[in-house]
Amino acid sequence: MEMNQLVVTNCVEFMEKMDENSVDLTVTSPPYDNLRDYKGYSFDFEGIAKGLYRVTKEGGVVVWVVGDRTHKGNRSLTSFRQALYFQELGFNVHDIMIYRKKNTPFMRSNAYTNCYEFMHVFTKGKPNAFNPLTDQTVRQGMEMMPFNKGADGVNNKALGKLNDAKTRANIWDYAVGMHGTTSDKIAFQHPAVFPEKLAEDHILSWTNEGDLVFDPMCGSGTTPKMAVKHGRNYIGTDISDEYIEIAKERVSSIQK
Ligand SMILES: C[S@@+](CC[C@H](N)C(=O)[O-])C[C@H]1O[C@@H](n2cnc3c(N)ncnc32)[C@H](O)[C@@H]1O
Repeated sequence: MEMNQLVVTNCVEFMEKMDENSVDLTVTSPPYDNLRDYKGYSFDFEGIAKGLYRVTKEGGVVVWVVGDRTHKGNRSLTSFRQALYFQELGFNVHDIMIYRKKNTPFMRSNAYTNCYEFMHVFTKGKPNAFNPLTDQTVRQGMEMMPFNKGADGVNNKALGKLNDAKTRANIWDYAVGMHGTTSDKIAFQHPAVFPEKLAEDHILSWTNEGDLVFDPMCGSGTTPKMAVKHGRNYIGTDISDEYIEIAKERVSSIQK
């Protein structure tokens, strides 16, 4: 399969033509419970999940970014059903991560404002790559630290250097909207863009340079753009030619 292409297609049909076990990482976000109008898409969840299982390498990773709609006071729980289906297909549910929005765009009158979506991380066996992102620790420098509780039960203390950084926790915060999600004005012609930083953080975590990053429903092209930025190969597909045009423009802007 040709690398580094953006294609207008139904991703279920496209994945049938892709090589089996060829994708290192998928970062994608499906339509949420018909929440938005994506210009006449057809959403075959089971076909997409099966296709992803087929094309993902042994040790490859799928990051499925999804939120649940509330209808008449009742959460759909679609994302939970989808996670269970991925597991039934043979994926490991490696992690259920949370993407927390720093600025919250909507409110409900009788419930707390929703500020998150899930980032389900599915793996086909043990991940081939894990390059953990780190955060600075709050306390740094030298400090008296306990060591070796002896038989007397007394904690001994010695001066030691605190770690400057630690592996991040699995709730990730992102600003959304202009200059948060992206600074590409054109991207907002798509109704549901996820933050560039979100795609970037997963690409850095689960792949190495030269790996293949796939987004079967790439919309405005956020995942392919971040793949190019970090020297990864990409394939992006979307059912809408209008969205693929936006994606092409964004990808070529980072190639310049
Ligand atoms: C939530 S949006 C993805 C947005 C994207 N992550 C971004 O940052 O722009 C979901 C996308 O799925 C696309 N889509 C829906 N069904 C599809 C299908 N069967 N094949 C390919 N794309 C599809 C829609 O056109 C829409 O752009």
